[in-house]
Amino acid sequence: MTGDVRSAQDGPGAVTPVTDGARAPEPAVRTRDLTRRFGTFTAVDAVSIEVQHGEIFGLIGPNGAGKSTMIKMLTTLLPPTSGHAWVAGFDVAAQPSLVRRRIGYVPQLLSADGTLTGYENLLLSAQLYDIPHHRLAERIREALAMVGLEDAANDQVNRYSGGMVRSLEIAQATLHRPTVLFADEPTVGLDPVAHMAVWEHLHELRQRLGMTLLVTTHNMEEADQHCDRVAVMHHGQVVTVGSPAALKARVGLAASLNDVFIHFTGAKLEEGGNFRDVLRARRTARRLS
Ligand SMILES: Nc1ncnc2c1ncn2[C@@H]1O[C@H](COP(=O)(O)OP(=O)(O)OP(=O)(O)O)[C@@H](O)[C@H]1O
Ligand SMILES: [Mg+2]
Repeated sequence: MTGDVRSAQDGPGAVTPVTDGARAPEPAVRTRDLTRRFGTFTAVDAVSIEVQHGEIFGLIGPNGAGKSTMIKMLTTLLPPTSGHAWVAGFDVAAQPSLVRRRIGYVPQLLSADGTLTGYENLLLSAQLYDIPHHRLAERIREALAMVGLEDAANDQVNRYSGGMVRSLEIAQATLHRPTVLFADEPTVGLDPVAHMAVWEHLHELRQRLGMTLLVTTHNMEEADQHCDRVAVMHHGQVVTVGSPAALKARVGLAASLNDVFIHFTGAKLEEGGNFRDVLRARRTARRLS
């Protein structure tokens, strides 16, 4: 189901996805000169990218590069200052509710409620996403199985490990089977085993449900291993896009994705982001460890 973003549930009133010349299928995500300013500061600067259906697309870049701001615009949480973005064929600014029905979002900061059980968290998400009542139990059971949390379903999330929390959040974000899943640093602060488990879930979601994934990460190895294509962001701009292999070849013989990152961003720790960004990233990592 990677080709057509329209489904029967759209009904007769559905808005036809925007297409150029009505021939090429609309990509899962498309931005044109997408820009977001905070006051005089430009956090995302005229970004134009396309993510194809079924792709795992990575956004990498130093702290403060604009990755989360991009995701917030694509998930309709933040209005663009200028430019355009379409997700699953719908305009994020003009058709936000049509976009929201087709996306899942795993935010950079933790979103699961620690005082509730895993099951209760899933129940809340199911209600939020308007999953029909007669499907609730089955969907939650499937989601728990997909992320290996059946046995922990009735435990309070406060007692979960970091990997279990992230897995639960992925299950919450995909209960309604979105067309596109946005995951902002889904593996930050996780140990290698939990890290691997999260990626297994993400791959399974793509394989079983044909989901498109847009993921941010600071881990170059994971971007290299798991992403079909990667965009490097720097100071709000996308400075290069390509498959990990193509990007590495562009930088040099035997280059790693780390070399690609340094080549395109010249990143030194003090260059990107500010104290608040780093503090926030560390806080998320600490809460997951
Ligand atoms: N609500 C806001 N008000 C003012 N500035 C903001 C706001 N949100 C983000 N910024 C600034 O925009 C820039 C981009 O932030 P963003 O969170 O998108 O970066 P990022 O690439 O996700 O960084 P990180 O890797 O640390 O998560 C940063 O300089 C940040 O301080
Ligand atoms: Mg971020």
